[in-house]
Amino acid sequence: MQVWAIANQKGGVGKTTTTLLLGRLLASRGQRVLLADLDPHASLTRAFGIPGEPPPAGTLDLFEQPPKAVAEVSRLTPIAGLRLLPAQAGMATLERRSATAPGLGLALGQGLAAAAADYDYALLDCPPTLGLLMVNALAAADQLVIPTQTEPLALHGMEGMLRTAQMVERSRKRALPARILPTLFDRRTRACTETLDRLREAQPERTWVQAVPLDTRLRDAAELARAELPAEVLQSRGYDAYQRALAWLLREAPQPEGLPA
Ligand SMILES: Nc1ncnc2c1ncn2[C@@H]1O[C@H](COP(=O)(O)OP(=O)(O)OP(=O)(O)O)[C@@H](O)[C@H]1O
Ligand SMILES: [Mg+2]
Repeated sequence: MQVWAIANQKGGVGKTTTTLLLGRLLASRGQRVLLADLDPHASLTRAFGIPGEPPPAGTLDLFEQPPKAVAEVSRLTPIAGLRLLPAQAGMATLERRSATAPGLGLALGQGLAAAAADYDYALLDCPPTLGLLMVNALAAADQLVIPTQTEPLALHGMEGMLRTAQMVERSRKRALPARILPTLFDRRTRACTETLDRLREAQPERTWVQAVPLDTRLRDAAELARAELPAEVLQSRGYDAYQRALAWLLREAPQPEGLPA
């Protein structure tokens, strides 16, 4: 099983949308995929129509003593091949505990490792805060995907995320390759094109040379979580960009030359 953490310390950059679309694209290729909602705000969980009351079984149960198994606390989604580990309200309290709470930093990784035979991919939708849940995700990950909004302030979030990843690499003594996925790109906006140029200059090896466009078809997470995507989404530029981004993340495609026409 490959574990990908989808993370950025900045909010609203497309983490949840990226997790959902990459997950369903992998599942549509016949991969067995687990999506884990690590954000107490539960956007991913709500996209699948799962209410917070009564609290669903989910991510927090992996942190219990003794921990529950992923198979027990995850659930089927309407999308074939895709299971979800829902977020639970109690995760907010867990998040406030120190990121270095003894023994708790590895709970997620241990839970996922025990389920490794059941999945080809686990995609972890991280909260936009550097706390215990994010640390768990990075400790468990084989690859870090950093969705980065193409606007000037977002560069700080990306740099902070890379520093955090380096910290995790040092403590776990295992490499954590990081890939930067530019998102919410509006080619008519100068701030967007300039930020994309700066991203590529600053991190040429890690940055996808293309970008996920700002696309109203991707705005409705609940729609993206349906069994079948509407034709407008399947034909959208945004969905097409995620297909190309996945090929790049899987190292199937070489780095493209530049933005598509
Ligand atoms: N490519 C896109 N085009 C248009 N809207 C988008 C795109 N990607 C995401 N959005 C919308 O932007 C908002 C933020 O996206 P998303 O929830 O995926 O970000 P996030 O990083 O997970 O946010 P948070 O930090 O709050 O968890 C959402 O309303 C989402 O529907
Ligand atoms: Mg989110």
